[in-house]
Amino acid sequence: MSITIFKRSEDLIHHVNEEKKKGCSIGFVPTMGALHQGHISLIEASAIQCDVTVCSIFVNPTQFNDKKDLETYPRNLCSDIKVLMDSSCDILFAPDVHEIYPHESGFVPSPELSWAGKVMEAAHRPGHYDGVMQVVYRLLDIVKPDVLFMGQKDYQQQLIIRQMIAAYEIKTKLVMVPTEREADGMALSSRNVKLDEESRIKATILSKTLHDIKSQLPHEDVNSLQEKGINQIADKGLEVEYLQVADQNTLKPLSKVHKGEKVVICVAARAGDVRLIDNVLYPD
Ligand code: PAF
Repeated sequence: MSITIFKRSEDLIHHVNEEKKKGCSIGFVPTMGALHQGHISLIEASAIQCDVTVCSIFVNPTQFNDKKDLETYPRNLCSDIKVLMDSSCDILFAPDVHEIYPHESGFVPSPELSWAGKVMEAAHRPGHYDGVMQVVYRLLDIVKPDVLFMGQKDYQQQLIIRQMIAAYEIKTKLVMVPTEREADGMALSSRNVKLDEESRIKATILSKTLHDIKSQLPHEDVNSLQEKGINQIADKGLEVEYLQVADQNTLKPLSKVHKGEKVVICVAARAGDVRLIDNVLYPD
């Protein structure tokens, strides 16, 4: 399939407006490139639900709290374009930094956030979600999509964006798409390419531990399950940042799961230099 590529927001806005005039609905998949099957599943979900699918590739400097992480973030626009041409994507928006942040101090949304703004990624990566909200707000303002597609892999991110959309009454619906996994359970991530062979094998302990906790949640104490899980991951040589059972809507940490309660089990750990996150929902 062919895709239309825009680098300038003005041109993208004009094109999207023309599609809207024809009555087309717009689906939007924001990414930072290094595209894999996880991104493609978002694009395919958009293509099923919307008439036109826009994907953006922009490595957003304001969401990196670690300079080295920004410098080493995988970038390969040419191979990403090839991947998109084999997908149902219609439009690629690949702006440079001046297009997204034309003024030195861009608007940073500051909605009321639940526990999602305080715990887990928010606590371990200070300022990260300010950068994510800043860029997604800006991208939504440019693309003005009917539907925004985000992956469950970054559960906390999609929840924060959901809360931002509600707080600013943005007319875009957010759809969360389930995590794509390798055959051994490993969640797909752009960072996986940075793992050496040994770390890649060891990292499967993350999804295994999450599923172990999930299967025992109805019967066992949450704190002891978390402790066992942390030890299980550490035994493989990964450094755990957090392993948390939390409420699905607020991310309030839970020490007890009541019948009917919807929870998410989240983990972040380092395999050498590579920081990995994953989560599973309970019940499914
Ligand atoms: O999930 C990502 O790739 C990024 O955080 C996003 C949503 C594209 C914003 O830069």
